[in-house]
Amino acid sequence: MSMPALSHNGKILCVVGARPNFMKIAPIMAELNSASTPLTAKLIHTGQHYNQAMNHQFFVDLDIPEPDINLEVGSASHAVQTAEIMRRFEPVIDQEQPAAVLVVGDVNSTIACALVAAKKGTPVIHVEAGLRSFDRTMPEEVNRVLTDQISDLLFTTERMARNNLLREGIADDRIHFVGNVMIDTLHHNLARATPAKDTFALASAFFIEVPYAVLTLHRPSNVDSAETLAAILHTIIEISEMIPVVFPLHPRTLNRIEYYGLGHLLVHQKLLILPPLGYLQMLGLMKDARVFLTDSGGIQEETTALGVPCITLRDNTERQITVDEGTNMIVGQDRQKILAAVRKTLETGGKSGRIPELWDGNSSRRIVDILHTWLNPELSLGST
Ligand code: UD1
Repeated sequence: MSMPALSHNGKILCVVGARPNFMKIAPIMAELNSASTPLTAKLIHTGQHYNQAMNHQFFVDLDIPEPDINLEVGSASHAVQTAEIMRRFEPVIDQEQPAAVLVVGDVNSTIACALVAAKKGTPVIHVEAGLRSFDRTMPEEVNRVLTDQISDLLFTTERMARNNLLREGIADDRIHFVGNVMIDTLHHNLARATPAKDTFALASAFFIEVPYAVLTLHRPSNVDSAETLAAILHTIIEISEMIPVVFPLHPRTLNRIEYYGLGHLLVHQKLLILPPLGYLQMLGLMKDARVFLTDSGGIQEETTALGVPCITLRDNTERQITVDEGTNMIVGQDRQKILAAVRKTLETGGKSGRIPELWDGNSSRRIVDILHTWLNPELSLGST
């Protein structure tokens, strides 16, 4: 295992790139920048996400400091995007000489920056380690497995993650169960969430429906085939006859809908199409939803934390605890199964659950405490 260099500067390079990274890094940056630690953080944005709605709004909502460096890679194929992030991140490590690089989640920016750091002998810290869907067709699963293999310090959100890591040969003493930093962010912002009616009012003078369902969709397995996407959208129209559906559209999904000529399926009386929402708008929509339909990873966890029933349109999940203990049901893409799950949820109030262990709002503090102990002996020798 790489240990921090003997005389290091206590500087941690924190990496973000895509939307789900922002709610994970926000509480870690806040904790690292607090006066109580001699560690310092620099924020590196790869630029994987760059739209106002996918990017800037989250920095505003979550009060994340402006990135110190933006690599501005933008969109491309996985290979080109990953390679370009690597190419642009290497000089940053040369220039900053950090004590460690901290990456979160499972996006292309996560593996790209972890790999650069590992090759340069800079210790890698992975937050949200050990989650496994056991489905290597998901780009994120490849990113998870590889990032964990080259990480020196691995922070997990649920106990089962440790077993996954041990099975893959990761040393036990590198793994720390700290809970879920995304739930820190949720706790911190719940009282500030934008009321759903305000979000509806922005988009439509007519849509004031309560109760309502929310849908998000962006996984390649759901949106990158015309047939699958059309079938899901037809099913959603059927659901909207049971309960109005609010559908904030991810740019990738919008691209696909336009490309396949499926736009007519979005025009329906009980379907409210919205642009991608900011964090506070989405939180407000989520907390009062009767049911959430999604293929997102993070939303499976946030709905469990809020006690809102979640129907996941995937065949598997890497966040098994949301099924075992939370409100999540995995139903895949089958029309009958989706409709049955929605019907049952509307009739019974849906699956209830409990809050998973250590999803208590204090995970980032645990992370920084452990980081401090890990780095501190050397810090006292060679602080600059
Ligand atoms: C990425 C992550 C995924 C995460 C998702 C959340 C990987 C492999 N995937 O998927 O794990 O759940 O982010 O959103 O890292 N686009 C824009 N504006 C933007 C960003 C993207 O218009 O700011 C469009 C572009 O057409 C782009 C497409 O969305 O080609 C896909 O973006 P990309 O970053 O490649 O992957 P996501 O599908 O967003």
